[in-house]
Amino acid sequence: MTRAFRGSREIFRTARKNPQARKSIRWGRLFSAMPSLETRDRRNVLNWLLGLWGGGVLGAVFYPVARYLSPPDIPEAAAVSATAGSARALLPNSGRVVPFGSRPAIVVRTPAGELRAFSATCTHLDCTVQYRSDLQRIWCACHNGQYDLNGRNIAGPPPRPLETYDVNLKDDEIVITRRS
Ligand code: FES
Repeated sequence: MTRAFRGSREIFRTARKNPQARKSIRWGRLFSAMPSLETRDRRNVLNWLLGLWGGGVLGAVFYPVARYLSPPDIPEAAAVSATAGSARALLPNSGRVVPFGSRPAIVVRTPAGELRAFSATCTHLDCTVQYRSDLQRIWCACHNGQYDLNGRNIAGPPPRPLETYDVNLKDDEIVITRRS
């Protein structure tokens, strides 16, 4: 409305200053200019409201997706201890992968009969390792990484040894514990 009023004032002013223009400007033209300005104003407001609404809808849709794809960094509580099944059932020169908190661990009985436990997460790119009785080594299938029975990285791309855990027996139950 304000713009429409300003538009008609402009036309009046031009007509007053210039007699030539006064002739050409007719009252009908003056009044026909007013509704077109009002329409333009209304359209601008409508466009602005539509833009605001569209932005809100896009935000409501994409914000949860973005949060899902990039969750906040919450530090994982590291497990301290876990049971790893029957000791008697684990034969010499064999291994068993067990859950250790949210990550895997591997318990190995060496060919000499000793029990050992390590993190089963490869230090290269986090694949889960397994025991290879033919090699008498802990082996990572992803890129042929190899660790000896002390958890040391001895072949392939792994850059570090596996984390070693303590092994204890509770009757026949193997209990593995993170070293402090
Ligand atoms: S992830 Fe284990 S060798 Fe690459």
